[in-house]
Amino acid sequence: MSKQFDVLVVGGGPAGYVAAIRAAQLGFSVACCESNAYADPKGEPRLGGTCLNVGCIPSKALLHTSHLFEEAGHSFAEQGICVGAPNIDVSRMIARKDGIVKQLTSGIKALFKKNKVTLLNGHAAFVERKAAAVGEVWQMRVGENVVEARQVILATGSKARHLPGIPVDNEIVCDNIGALDIDAVPKRLAVIGAGVIGLEMGSVWRRLGSDVTLLEALPDFLSLADIDVAKEAAKVFARQGLKIVTGVTIGEVRVSPTGVSIDYTDKDGNPQRLDADRLIVSIGRVPNTDGLGAEKVGLQINARGQIEVDAHCRTNLPGVWAIGDVVAGPMLAHKAMEEGVMVAELMAGQAGHCNFETIPWVIYTSPEIAWVGRTEQQLKADGTAYKVGKIPFAANGRALGMGDPTGFVKVLACATTDRVLGVHIIGANASELISEGVVAMEFGAAAEDLARICHAHPTLSEVVHEAALACDKRPLHF
Ligand code: FAD
Ligand code: NAI
Repeated sequence: MSKQFDVLVVGGGPAGYVAAIRAAQLGFSVACCESNAYADPKGEPRLGGTCLNVGCIPSKALLHTSHLFEEAGHSFAEQGICVGAPNIDVSRMIARKDGIVKQLTSGIKALFKKNKVTLLNGHAAFVERKAAAVGEVWQMRVGENVVEARQVILATGSKARHLPGIPVDNEIVCDNIGALDIDAVPKRLAVIGAGVIGLEMGSVWRRLGSDVTLLEALPDFLSLADIDVAKEAAKVFARQGLKIVTGVTIGEVRVSPTGVSIDYTDKDGNPQRLDADRLIVSIGRVPNTDGLGAEKVGLQINARGQIEVDAHCRTNLPGVWAIGDVVAGPMLAHKAMEEGVMVAELMAGQAGHCNFETIPWVIYTSPEIAWVGRTEQQLKADGTAYKVGKIPFAANGRALGMGDPTGFVKVLACATTDRVLGVHIIGANASELISEGVVAMEFGAAAEDLARICHAHPTLSEVVHEAALACDKRPLHF
């Protein structure tokens, strides 16, 4: 006997659980199935996907602890707080992180109960599309159950890309899963890939005392970010002792029970070797479509392994949608959630919408890096005439009071209409400050609009205000 629902959501990560909740709010009967990739000790499926279990949340917990550790060791004394050299108890740091994960993943179960979303435990695979009493339904196997639903939302997420021939044991060679559970501060840590995970996890372990080297294939560092931000970040990270080597080609990687030895060619073609106690491989992520039965029902998957969708996340199959990391676009939890809401609302006949132009990016290093919209190099390449307002945190009273005056805010606005085209921040609390840029861009604001808004004093947000004023060459405090 099959279970029947209006909507079956496959995957309980940020894309899937949000889509399930929103669909239930809109009156659909909804089931969400989770393949139990991150089971708790009782074998119960853990909701929250990569983000809550082995991604956003645990990494930010470790970033916070390691940031405090670094503050205690370096900047407390400057402020007259004398505590002596701090020690790190790695097992307590990891246990705290695990506690936060547990609390949040159980919280989603509670949200499912509240919204009457049925949680199914098991891996889902398409069986067939079959005739129903009225119209047609999709039949899927979910673990031991057969489930039928008119609408299916595929939110199966992504997994770490590994280097060919270099098995990840999550002891010596780690992907994101092992990197979040290292049980002692490695003396020497190597990271392959100086992208978002490499920088965040590299920062965690550097702050705790590791000698960290990141090996990056691309010739330019942080090429996704605005060029000024990338330059400033490279300078600050080098000062902190994070070694970033760009333009490398990774060769043989030899792993022993106690460490790893990486042969690589540097950007000048010279052979080099890096020895380390642990290695983190963070070279991007691949969409998850394993065992979904895509070929059985003719679900279109593109050459990059993503489920092919239109701008509204419709796949080539009627009634089947796909959202989050498994489709094109930035692999970010908030983008995944936005798509979840959009699809649920479209299914309900509403005008679901996701503005891909205003999705913010944040890298939670110290200083934090955040941006929304176009970078200066993109505007140049597009031939768009633009104005720049760029103001450092160095003259901001709040930043000085916090002992954190590194970085700047850069606002890019259209030279003819003054419309804000991009906001780029490197500095303390950039992750929170960027929301102002997102709101401004979402409302089609001009730089002048930002400049005319009263910003509380003393706050870091005054630097956003000044940068907007600087677009019109009239900053007041710089
Ligand atoms: P996932 O979170 O991957 O969830 C997919 C779920 O589907 C999984 O639980 C999986 O078990 C399940 N599943 C897969 N196939 C099936 C199947 N056939 N049947 C049933 N269930 C299935 N993003 C941010 O925005 N901010 C951050 O700070 C951030 N930090 C990150 C840090 C790290 C270390 C990593 C690795 C990622 C980070 N991300 C961050 C990215 C973020 O985690 C992802 O973009 C987000 O989790 C994608 O959500 P999703 O629901 O599409 O996929
Ligand atoms: P990434 O795409 O950010 O970075 C991967 C880096 O590895 C790139 O710079 C790439 O050039 C490099 N690389 C690829 N192959 C290589 C090779 N063979 N040798 C050396 N370098 C190589 O991917 P990452 O860091 O794995 O993270 C995956 C995704 O997870 C991110 O793109 C992001 O979407 C998400 N994420 C988001 C976070 C946030 O929002 N703060 C934090 C962490 C992850």
